[in-house]
Order: sequence, then structure tokens, then C-alpha cells
Amino acid sequence: METTLVLLKPDALHRGLVGRILSRFEDKGLQFAGMRLLRMTPELAAQHYADHVGKPFYEGLVRFMTASPILALALRGPQAVAIVRKMMGATFGPDADAGTLRGDFGASRSFNLVHGSDSPASAERELKLFFPDGLEDWTPIAQPWMWDSDDA
Ligand code: RTP
Ligand code: MG
Repeated sequence: METTLVLLKPDALHRGLVGRILSRFEDKGLQFAGMRLLRMTPELAAQHYADHVGKPFYEGLVRFMTASPILALALRGPQAVAIVRKMMGATFGPDADAGTLRGDFGASRSFNLVHGSDSPASAERELKLFFPDGLEDWTPIAQPWMWDSDDA
């Protein structure tokens, strides 16, 4: 089992896409292990996007991410990190395949709706930033019919 961090970015909230995006993750069988509405601070952005500090797009990225609330999710399932990245699609809307979140819901390069951790190690680091009090452990009643023991 893996757990990954997903952020629904300010554009997803302003455009009223939260329900549809959450439905995609539920439909795929990923389990909510954490959910938090928050306003990202520049300090949290600097920690979260530590790899991007100093890059030309960094200032604009922080302005966008701190402009209004975001929804942070911890999503759990076998191979959750890779599954979420596939569901998100390529970084920029115009490049993202149809059928992905970024491919179906937007065409902007900057306003790209979602973040997903890019590796299990990133997920572990990022989850601690957004869920410092830990995550919820629970077993969905449908789980025995979602995944076989081979999947986990
Ligand atoms: P994310 O971290 O948001 O899940 O997106 P990602 O892995 O697909 O992309 P990443 O390379 O980590 O970049 C983080 C965010 O920075 C913005 N960006 N702008 N103008 C540019 O060249 C550029 N490159 C990256 C995007 O908003 C991207 O989501
Ligand atoms: Mg990234």
C-alpha cells in the first residue's frame, strides 16, 4: 500500500471542479486517508516546492498557489503514487492526454489544477508537510472487492 499527496490547486476550487476531481479518484478505488482545506503560505510553498526555488517560474507558482485555498488529500492504494500521476496527465494542460485530469479539465500551462507526489519518497516528505498530525487509518467496506492480495 502507498499513500500519496494530492493538492487541488486554487483554480480547481474557483472553477467548481472539486467534486468531479474527487469522483475520479473515488472511481479509481483510491482511499481518502486525509483531507484538508487550507491556505498555503509562502513558507509552506517554499518547503513543498524546495526543488523549484530559484527557477524562473517559481515566483509565479507561489503567487498562484497562495492566492486562495487549496484542498490537500492523502490518497491510499496499491501503487497510489504512479496511479495518481497517470490520472493527472502531463504537467501542462495543452500537452496532457485526453482522459487525464489536466487533459480533460484545462488548457492552461500555469493553472494545471492538481499536484501529485512524483515518487514514494516525495510522498512521504510532502505528506508530513500537509498532514503533520498524521493520517486516518480505516478500511473501506468494499476493499476486499477492490484489490486482491496480489495487488497490495
Ligand atoms: P506538480 O508538482 O504540481 O504535481 O506538477 P509536476 O510534477 O507535473 O511539475 P513540476 O515539474 O514538479 O512543476 C511544479 C509546478 O510548477 C509549474 N511549472 N511551471 N513555466 C514552467 O516551465 C513551469 N514548470 C513547472 C507547474 O505549475 C507545475 O505544476
Ligand atoms: Mg512536481
